[in-house]
Amino acid sequence: MIPFNKPAVVGQEFSFLQQAVDRGQLSGDGLFTKRCSEQIVAMTGARAALLTHSCTAALEMAAILADLKPGDEVIMPSFTFVSTANAVALRGAVPVFVDIDQDSLNIDPDKTAAAVTSRTRAIFAVHYAGFPADMDRLAEIARAHDLLLVEDAAQALGSTYKGRLAGSLGDLAAFSFHETKNIISGEGGALTLNRGDLVERAEIIREKGTNRSRFLRGQVDKYTWVDIGSSFLPGELIAAFLYGQLDQAEMIQHRRLALFDHYATAFDDLEQSGRVGLPHAPADTTGNGHMFYLMMRDIDDRDGFIAHMRQAEIITPFHYVPLHSAPAGLRYGRSDAALPVTDDVSARLVRLPMYFGLGQDIDRVIFVARNYLMAKPAGATWHI
Ligand SMILES: Cc1ncc(COP(=O)(O)O)c(C=O)c1O
Repeated sequence: MIPFNKPAVVGQEFSFLQQAVDRGQLSGDGLFTKRCSEQIVAMTGARAALLTHSCTAALEMAAILADLKPGDEVIMPSFTFVSTANAVALRGAVPVFVDIDQDSLNIDPDKTAAAVTSRTRAIFAVHYAGFPADMDRLAEIARAHDLLLVEDAAQALGSTYKGRLAGSLGDLAAFSFHETKNIISGEGGALTLNRGDLVERAEIIREKGTNRSRFLRGQVDKYTWVDIGSSFLPGELIAAFLYGQLDQAEMIQHRRLALFDHYATAFDDLEQSGRVGLPHAPADTTGNGHMFYLMMRDIDDRDGFIAHMRQAEIITPFHYVPLHSAPAGLRYGRSDAALPVTDDVSARLVRLPMYFGLGQDIDRVIFVARNYLMAKPAGATWHI
């Protein structure tokens, strides 16, 4: 069987785990957390990085830092993972879902601008498939209305927009090290910050609402409860494993980009003849080889493809189910208009296996997928 994802050990993860145990600190914020944070700052260009136990946790921290109150609104795509919206709903605020652009699959800046009301406090922009959203236009909207701009960069470590790294493009950014991502620790994440004035509060929120981080730096002689917060930090074992991956980041990213390019070349003729749609880096961006997807004709074509691949024991899942029409999306969120691109893309997109150790198996994926696609008539229209 060729799975969709297979987590791999790529370097010194086991040796770092042993070192963490030998050092005698398994709780958070030890040597490996420090090393990971420094490496994440280097890989994002952000001012500061705080390791969390997931991207979900980092988004929840962002929602607290945004000072969201019940009734406040946050604009975000509906085509995203539930955590983007949950973070907002947990504060009693309202996720306002807008449509995505049909080429980039990222939040549509025009629709974002149109959704701003007097209650809007923030924009949560997702960098889908690792390709950054149109951050200059979103930053313009955020500036004009005094909104916090948060990157949901769960998939986008190492990607760039106009030569700037994901994580340095908004006020805050949330990254994931879940086992399906490029750099992994099973579960894991980070909040990066570009706003110096938010760093100290972020440290407090991450440490159960205490100023423990200042205490550990010797800046206060005892630590105490000073704000709301939770336990958002990972233990040192997670950090040790993660550092083994971050240490090899260049090699991992190189491998994934090679897999992405291999897929893109292999299906190029089928896109030219209108048999399938492929991912392309939006203008001014570079990706990180996080994901390779195919855009099928319609939901039946998509389901037919998934069944065809499964018969050959190759797992090719679809992706996000739109949030605006999900039960919790209807209860906690709002969308002012229909979201036709979101509905359309979510019904047609299918993801191909993509993981560090995919190796020669990629050619079997391509062979089986091409057999299905070549049987299709040429000349489909990919855009709605
Ligand atoms: C856009 C987006 N945001 C957030 C998350 C949540 O990440 P985590 O599993 O690290 O909490 C994901 C997970 O895949 C995601 O795709």
